[in-house]
Amino acid sequence: MFQSVPLAPPDAILGLAEAFAKDPNPAKINLGIGVFCDETGKTPILASVKEAERRLLETEASKGYLPIDGSPAYTQAVQAMLFGADHEAITSRRVSTSHTPGGTAALRVSADFIRKNFPKATVWLSDPTWPNHPQIFEAAGVPVKVYPYFDAASNGLAFERTLAALGQVAAGDFVLLHGCCHNPTGIDPTVEQWRQIAATLAARGATALIDFAYQGFGRGLTEDAAGLLAILQPGVELLVCSSFSKNFGLYKERVGALTAVSKDAETATRVQSQIKAVIRANYSNPPSHGGAVVATILGDTALRAQWEQELAAMRDRINGMRSLFVASLKAAGVPRDFSFIERQLGMFSFSGLTKDQVQTLRDQHAIYMVGSGRINVAGMRPATMGRLCEAIKSVL
Ligand SMILES: Cc1ncc(COP(=O)(O)O)c(C=O)c1O
Repeated sequence: MFQSVPLAPPDAILGLAEAFAKDPNPAKINLGIGVFCDETGKTPILASVKEAERRLLETEASKGYLPIDGSPAYTQAVQAMLFGADHEAITSRRVSTSHTPGGTAALRVSADFIRKNFPKATVWLSDPTWPNHPQIFEAAGVPVKVYPYFDAASNGLAFERTLAALGQVAAGDFVLLHGCCHNPTGIDPTVEQWRQIAATLAARGATALIDFAYQGFGRGLTEDAAGLLAILQPGVELLVCSSFSKNFGLYKERVGALTAVSKDAETATRVQSQIKAVIRANYSNPPSHGGAVVATILGDTALRAQWEQELAAMRDRINGMRSLFVASLKAAGVPRDFSFIERQLGMFSFSGLTKDQVQTLRDQHAIYMVGSGRINVAGMRPATMGRLCEAIKSVL
């Protein structure tokens, strides 16, 4: 049987990480995979996470299963972090949250929920988007289409074209929006643009599906939720897929959440019952550890303050690298304006480098980036910035 199985192509981003690991060059630079690195090139465990883990090790009394949608302490903390604890959607009990293994599982559970309950719906993705988005929805049998997003000429948002395309989506469709720190471009709508997107979706009868994988990596925890809150008007329904891989540095613990906001409390009960049915048939119930760490931190005033400081330090490092990169390219005499990199948010930017230039950087300089020219700014370090900029200059 298995002899007929063809070899699947390597994952565009994780495959790059494997190639990087194998490269023997001691001066290699990894701007590929979307993982935060500190100034020494390591992906650290936050001190607040270590402390929460110490407490959990002491107090955990059972390894019994969690409920299908996770522990209430976790799901309530997630809702408060998304909307603010006294938001109308929470107090009117129209929000339901499920703890999922990472943001990826939140997306897959939403895809299965959409396929089962809205079989005619299409999910609209930004062009470009995270390469796993189309794979996840297609694997669940949900049709996907794309709407314009990136304007190569200005290295900014193609907002008029975005809005025009969203003005054409069918009633009942879902529109996937990156809550902040758009991956791969680093370009987010302004709050006013979010309002216009919200009005357009409402006019079309389409529902927002917000992928929120970087809350706190852009401007701040509440600032980064501004787009989400612009969409979430009274009576509006939406889905949010959270990931705590980046903002808590909990990548391998697989911790995320799917939050559904329904029209009213009675609808929310039915929606949550369907989401739980999807989860039960998929991974049954979530792994506990990562969610327990997040709930412990968010539920303790001092630990939460410590985590917020650590999150701010990660954000400041990324923004610092953006400025240093732009200044260093200029100082190296690179004949191209890269100042747009400083205006973008989160770990990623589209560098504008071509596929061939990306390949040359890899082959001749051991500098790894995604073929689209996406760079992970959090992979940059002051110690290697000079070498990086000289290499980029040589391929331009
Ligand atoms: C836009 C986007 N969504 C979702 C995810 C999934 O995150 P997780 O690792 O928590 O599954 C990522 C991770 O890279 C991402 O960049």
